[in-house]
This record gives sequence, C-alpha cells and structure tokens, in this order.
Amino acid sequence: MATSTLSPATPSQLCSSKNGVFSPSQALMAKPTRTKLMTKENGMKVTCQASSIPADRVPDMGKRKLMNLLLLGAIGLPTAGMLVPYTAFFAPPGSGGGGGGTVAKDALGNDVIAAEWIKTHGPGDRTLTQGLKGDPTYLVVEQDKTLATYGINAVCTHLGCVVPWNAAENKFICPCHGSQYNNQGRVVRGPAPLSLALAHADIDDGKVLFVPWVETDFRTGDEPWWA
Ligand code: FES
Repeated sequence: MATSTLSPATPSQLCSSKNGVFSPSQALMAKPTRTKLMTKENGMKVTCQASSIPADRVPDMGKRKLMNLLLLGAIGLPTAGMLVPYTAFFAPPGSGGGGGGTVAKDALGNDVIAAEWIKTHGPGDRTLTQGLKGDPTYLVVEQDKTLATYGINAVCTHLGCVVPWNAAENKFICPCHGSQYNNQGRVVRGPAPLSLALAHADIDDGKVLFVPWVETDFRTGDEPWWA
C-alpha cells in the first residue's frame, strides 16, 4: 500500500470531518483533544487533528470585540508614537522658511551680542555662527566695522559640505570638489550650481537675529532659490 505526503495545505484543508470543514477560527480557539488517522479510498494516509470546544467556554461576541479593541490599542499607540519622529525625519532641514527669526549663536552656543562681536571681529571678517534651523551661517563684518545686514549660509549648493572662508583668496572655497563663491557667497566656479543661501541679519535688543530671506537675491537679481 502506497503512502504519500500531501502538498502544503491551507488551514481549511488540514482537517475535515463528517460534519464539514474544520475552520481556522476554530483552530485558534480550540484546544486540540486528539489525533485521528484516517484512510481514504485511494489508499493515502491523512493525518487529521480534531478539536472540540465546550459550549460554555466560547467567548461571547462582546468579549471578543473588547479583546480586539485592547489588542488594537496595544499595537496602535506605540506605532503612532514611532511614526511622528519618523515623519519629522523627512522634513527638509535648512530651507530657511517659516516666520520669525533665530538668535545667532556663537561657537560656544551663546547668543551673539552685536556690539561685542564688532569689538572682537575686524573689518572683512566672516565667522561661522549657528543660524536658521541650526545651519552654519557666516556673520559678515563690513569694512566700516558694521555688521552686514545679511548672513551667508555655509552649506555648499553642490553636495552640502560646509564651505570655509579663505581670507587670503577673499573667497569661500569648498574643500570637497573645489566650488568657489565670492565674498558675498555668489557662486563663481562650479560644480556648485547656485550661490550660497542668504538670511537677514537684524539686530534685536542688542542680539543678532537671523530672519528668512524671501526677497530677490541682491547678488544675482534672481528669486531666492532657497525660499
Ligand atoms: S560639495 Fe562643495 S563642491 Fe561639492
């Protein structure tokens, strides 16, 4: 007599009885009680697991709904909590948008006081501060020892390196692929496709305040690409 192995079966195929098909939902709730070995007419052996549920132990519909709600809450709340920071991760940083301003911070994280800054930074100085949305932003001291009314975002428009100021060349020169910008951040050599972004550098209550620049770029006469 030949014995063969059946191909993988779905739960509903796993067992049948003279009363009909054994359903997966029954399988979840029922405690297996015994195993039968049946022989079909064609001689194949089929292993079948039979189960039974006492009628008084079947949960009523109200309890099942309550358990489903509890399960949904237990899974849904932590999932929603994780989705918020995950979604925020994809929000574009450093676009310079949004209202209001940001007080400039020096290398130590202190607010930049305009009068003190001028005392310690000479004409032509360009020093990095923390600007809008945390972007590195140059504060510019003009030749007359006043603060320029604009700050220059130091993020290279090619692939995002921070561009250092080269006082000897009177340019910003990117160390990554050699792009160059003039002393106002206008691109003068590629591969960078665009000039460095601008921000207004206002003075508010003695502190330097960066405000998004949404007007025409005074260096190129074009609309600001970063706004
Ligand atoms: S990142 Fe500045 S030139 Fe490539």
